[in-house]
Amino acid sequence: MGPEQGTVAPMRIVYVVGTRPNFVKTAPVIGALRARLPEGRHALVHTGQHYDRMMSEVFLEELGVPAPDHMLEVGSGSHAEQTARVMERLEPVLAEELPDLVVVPGDVNSTMAAAVTAAKMGIPVAHVESGLRSFDRTMPEELNRVVTDHLSDLLFIHSPEADDNLHAEGIPAERIHFVGNTMIDTLVALEGRFRAAGAAARLGLAPGSYVLVTLHRPALVDGSLLPKTIARLAALAREMPVVFPVHPRTRAMMESVEADHPGLLLSEPLGYLDFLSLLADAGAVLTDSGGIQEETTYLGIPCFTLRANTERPITTTAGTNTLLGLDPATISTIPQALAQRPPGRPEPPPLWDGHASERIADIVARSHG
Ligand code: UD1
Repeated sequence: MGPEQGTVAPMRIVYVVGTRPNFVKTAPVIGALRARLPEGRHALVHTGQHYDRMMSEVFLEELGVPAPDHMLEVGSGSHAEQTARVMERLEPVLAEELPDLVVVPGDVNSTMAAAVTAAKMGIPVAHVESGLRSFDRTMPEELNRVVTDHLSDLLFIHSPEADDNLHAEGIPAERIHFVGNTMIDTLVALEGRFRAAGAAARLGLAPGSYVLVTLHRPALVDGSLLPKTIARLAALAREMPVVFPVHPRTRAMMESVEADHPGLLLSEPLGYLDFLSLLADAGAVLTDSGGIQEETTYLGIPCFTLRANTERPITTTAGTNTLLGLDPATISTIPQALAQRPPGRPEPPPLWDGHASERIADIVARSHG
């Protein structure tokens, strides 16, 4: 027997995550929607794009995310292989779960694959972190962003330029919702714990004294730029300590080019609390990550982005981010830039306030019924 006339069946939602930053962006959304729709079904699918313990389980544990309901175990592969495996393995899960909505975060291969699968099954898609554009279609993430946005019914954005980007691509305004930044929700929720974690002290480093480095993008680590970058980091390490937790992709490339790295404090990937602890106490950050440009903006830590472009221009206009370009030689400018930096710290961008996920939950709840 179906639901009585006039009543609406509890909402069924599937959340699809696959990589480290996906967990961070989605955890507070699941929490807010569980609280908002306690009668609903909230099923978590982990595609397995990231599978090492330090890239995956540690994050889910620290973020308080319950064990996934479905593990797709797609692992690594070419873009087509990884995308195809997610699609093949997600389709029967969605057929079983029969969700009213599939929620996908960010811009990784798992995001795009899940959006295509759901949209083809006629299931509405919600995209968290919609509307970002680097305008660089050589980046796999840019293709994933464009496809996901065009297939989504609810587009949750966290900066004004995302609105402009989506309008320019003809996406109807009624689908776009400016809610704020769910990655910052997680940071705000964890602030007491990461401030107490003392990761820098464990390495014998004083707060504000060191540069924290993360690098993993193919444009930087898959070719000849990696050994040049490592050489520049080694030179920087003669001026200030350089701490570098190494992503598995970068580790593999460093081994293959046998890049020498004197003076660098290299480590395995860190858990999120330890990483945020190091980030919050850093004198500066050098990165090619998207999320770290935002986290440093919120925390007021100087960030230098070793990329030709950013899909997050608000971090350079309203935040603390400097776009260096895709040129390892620019690393040598960091000490001087730090010395000339004006005092004070900018206000975080609008709605980066720890409550984005609650706004998403309200909009999702309203969309049902
Ligand atoms: C992916 C995302 C990128 C995101 C990053 C966050 C795409 C296209 N890229 O890049 O946008 O910023 O995640 O970290 O989706 N590997 C392991 N263990 C793991 C995961 C990966 O050893 O747990 C190694 C494998 O050798 C793999 C390589 O890292 O081939 C790359 O992993 P992959 O998921 O394909 O892309 P990322 O570089 O992590």
